[in-house]
Amino acid sequence: MATANTPRKILVTSALPYANGSIHLGHLVEYIQTDIWVRFQKMQGHTVHYVCADDTHGTPIMLRAEKEGITPEALIEGVHKEHTADFSEFLVEFDNYYSTNAPENKELAQSIYKKLKANGKISTKTIEQFYDPVKNMFLPDRFIKGECPKCHAKDQYGDSCEVCGATYNPTELINAYSAVSGAAPIRKETEHYFFKLSECEQFLKDWTRSGTLQGEAANKMGEWFENGLNDWDISRDAPYFGFEIPDAPGKYFYVWLDAPIGYMASFKNLCQAKGLDFDEYWSKDSKTELYHFIGKDILYFHALFWPATLEFSGHRKPTQIFAHGFLTVNGEKMSKSRGTFITARSYLEHIKNPEYLRYYYAAKINSTMEDIDLSLDDFVARVNSDLVGKYINIASRTAGFINKRFDGKLQISNTLPSAVQEIKSSAKLIAECYESREYGKALREIMRLADHANADVAEAAPWVKAKLEGDEAKQDLHLDCSAALEMFRLLSLYLKPVLPKLVGEVEKFLNIVPLTWASVDSSFITGHQINNYEHLITRIDPKAIDAMTEANKENLTATPQVSAAAVSKAAPVTAALPEAEYISIDDFTKVDLRIAKIVNAEHVEGAEKLLKLLLDIGEERPRQVFAGIKSAYDPATLVGRLTVMVANLAPRKMKFGMSEGMVLAASDENGGPFILSPDVGAKLGMRVK
Ligand code: MSP
Ligand code: ZN
Repeated sequence: MATANTPRKILVTSALPYANGSIHLGHLVEYIQTDIWVRFQKMQGHTVHYVCADDTHGTPIMLRAEKEGITPEALIEGVHKEHTADFSEFLVEFDNYYSTNAPENKELAQSIYKKLKANGKISTKTIEQFYDPVKNMFLPDRFIKGECPKCHAKDQYGDSCEVCGATYNPTELINAYSAVSGAAPIRKETEHYFFKLSECEQFLKDWTRSGTLQGEAANKMGEWFENGLNDWDISRDAPYFGFEIPDAPGKYFYVWLDAPIGYMASFKNLCQAKGLDFDEYWSKDSKTELYHFIGKDILYFHALFWPATLEFSGHRKPTQIFAHGFLTVNGEKMSKSRGTFITARSYLEHIKNPEYLRYYYAAKINSTMEDIDLSLDDFVARVNSDLVGKYINIASRTAGFINKRFDGKLQISNTLPSAVQEIKSSAKLIAECYESREYGKALREIMRLADHANADVAEAAPWVKAKLEGDEAKQDLHLDCSAALEMFRLLSLYLKPVLPKLVGEVEKFLNIVPLTWASVDSSFITGHQINNYEHLITRIDPKAIDAMTEANKENLTATPQVSAAAVSKAAPVTAALPEAEYISIDDFTKVDLRIAKIVNAEHVEGAEKLLKLLLDIGEERPRQVFAGIKSAYDPATLVGRLTVMVANLAPRKMKFGMSEGMVLAASDENGGPFILSPDVGAKLGMRVK
């Protein structure tokens, strides 16, 4: 390992999160893990660039945008804002957070493809794929649903059954249908482009053996080699949200081709902003280091496709791939139905302080691919006992005396107390732990040192000395409290990669320049002036955890109730929704439902189905809404009625004018629409929740 004396140039990435979902506590394992490593390396004085981006291409994003009635560009722009805000609140500090849907990425993807092609690594083959004859598009497996061939549960995905866990091919589904249109998919031939991975086997074997992977990851690679490497299908047919393949009209790069190239593109964009040399980091003979932090689920892409893509397009390969395990909550897979599928946002709303989670994750993270458990009880106990009870305690028990009795000035003895020496001498071990991603081990060492510091303070008992008369007691009090703050300074330095905000506040309180690893070698000097100690951190209230899990559990109750009703009518029992189809309570509360009074209703000239309604919800003027209820209602009978409207639906310009909301009505093949009415007593403007 290089030491702090030899500055390194390091490029670090975290996997690019998909642009069709929110950041959740599972994702955060990775971004927090990477951020801690990057902050540590920066504290060492190395040159580090940490880049990431949203992964924006592919069918799911295209279809979701369509469903929401917006362009994919608008969808990914909104998600980019959301992701950026989440990361910044969790103190994940990227040097650049970009998008794969960017000009740099298009140019890089196309030029890399051209180089692969020139190197004879691209072939074409006609394959058969599922096709939606109504929607006129090829369907990824995920968008084919049907009855499970094993347990006969309805509406299962094309690759696996969420009820019995069976895995199968979409061809085995009974009564398969397209999740997009509902039509029965047909098989259709199409020409696809392939990256000849089978020809890269020797290169990949050598690369794998060169210390680029963790032990478990190298073993996994061994299994893949044993089964033989297949050529990689890198094209998708239009319609597809992505980049077109050069000289192949109607063919697009599969999202996983341009996603890792997004690492380069984000860095290239940073180079333009900062005047850095892109080639210094990516050319074949680069002397810089490149590390990818990823989850174990995407090892295949990063340990096979990606190095092969780089090698045969004339670029450097990653120095190392750091794969981590998956998050479990209370020992089980995160699950919406159990209420443990917690978004970054929901955590912030309930627990507020992101550094509690950073600390807890760090305490659990090691360099392996083992899963990481967030036990919520342990989380509260650990944070409260370590951060509040051990670390902050050192300052909170001593700083007040310095502030009040000694004008905030420190007094440092010529011979440092042994506990200070001991804390200093652990710097190397702790640095090695951070470097090798053994954060749990680092924190255990830091807390062991904090225990010593606390024992020292307890023995010195400043609260006793403060009550004694005489100069000697006063002098001792001054020295003891100053030494305690020196220990606190050192422990703050060690914790800084994990708790950057808290330590930033500590730096202000101690009145020192930002701590770096080199600050281990300096000490406070006599006369150093500190600022007033103010409370730095509070305990986690277990009630906040309860509230968070309750909020995420609430959406559980809806389904069983519905099923119970279905059972009482002797209807078939419906299986619980597949996880992906639940919405959270947060999603639901986004919909602003209001009691509205219909103050006017009239026919619309030229409209077959619509009535024009004016709805009063207590605002300055009534809302104009076009509702497709003409077939069932005489407008005159509606005036004066109360109903329920969606008040925060984006206004839509229709042929007949603006529609500023929506009324709720029930209908199916047996009849309707029937508009909803509230119970007696409801007043216009009331919120429905
Ligand atoms: N878009 C791809 C990555 C492309 S990289 C060129 C992707 N996105 S993701 O949003 O599904 O995941 C982003 C990262 O978060 C991945 O490294 C993934 O392993 C990690 N995690 C997602 N869920 C996770 C847990 N529940 N636990 C731990 N890490 C998890 O994959
Ligand atoms: Zn099944």
